[in-house]
Amino acid sequence: MLYMTDSTSNLGCAQSAISRADRERLLGQSGLVVWFTGLSGSGKSSLAIKTEAELSARGRLCYRLDGDVLRAGLCSDLSFSDKDRRENIRRAGEAAALLADAGLIVLCSFISPFAADRSRVRELVGLKRFYEVFVDAPLAVCETRDPKGLYRLARRGEITSFTGIDSAYEQPVNPELHLKTDELGIDQCTAQILKMLNYSG
Ligand code: ADX
Repeated sequence: MLYMTDSTSNLGCAQSAISRADRERLLGQSGLVVWFTGLSGSGKSSLAIKTEAELSARGRLCYRLDGDVLRAGLCSDLSFSDKDRRENIRRAGEAAALLADAGLIVLCSFISPFAADRSRVRELVGLKRFYEVFVDAPLAVCETRDPKGLYRLARRGEITSFTGIDSAYEQPVNPELHLKTDELGIDQCTAQILKMLNYSG
């Protein structure tokens, strides 16, 4: 068995006989990460769910990583401070990179408010396999939608450090796709995502 050691940390890892390319051949697809970023209520999870359904109907194996789900388990020790959000995105990015290495199409929906954290995930996953989708709706629209009633609580001061209210959101400068969800419907947005991934038609 091939055994690799990192001399700085003394961590060793046994090398698989099966490579990523082998797994991708088996699945007939390339592992990649679609990273949906945007305000709460902008439509990230809805778009990830619709994209997952469309890709699955085309015989593609997908997996969704969602902020609300990870924060109930893997990241349940984290708050919404800037520091903890960075750690949240670091863990989500590491999980996404592993699943993409397994050959899956990973659909990630996290507010991920900080550009530097998103760039780190992009580098970790690899430039050619990472697609950043800016799910863009004005704060006023997200606030009107308020699917979880959290904006109302944040405006009343019952929740603090709420993104868009008293916590920052850094808009992507160069995303692979910029979707204005207050102007386009979910079907139009999903069609653009599938086109970006070359899965349309
Ligand atoms: S992130 O900023 O660290 O990327 P993440 O996407 O995991 O956030 O979680 C966001 C979800 O947590 C929101 O959709 C909302 O349901 C919930 N939430 C609870 N408190 C907050 C808060 N203070 N700011 C933003 N989202 C919050």
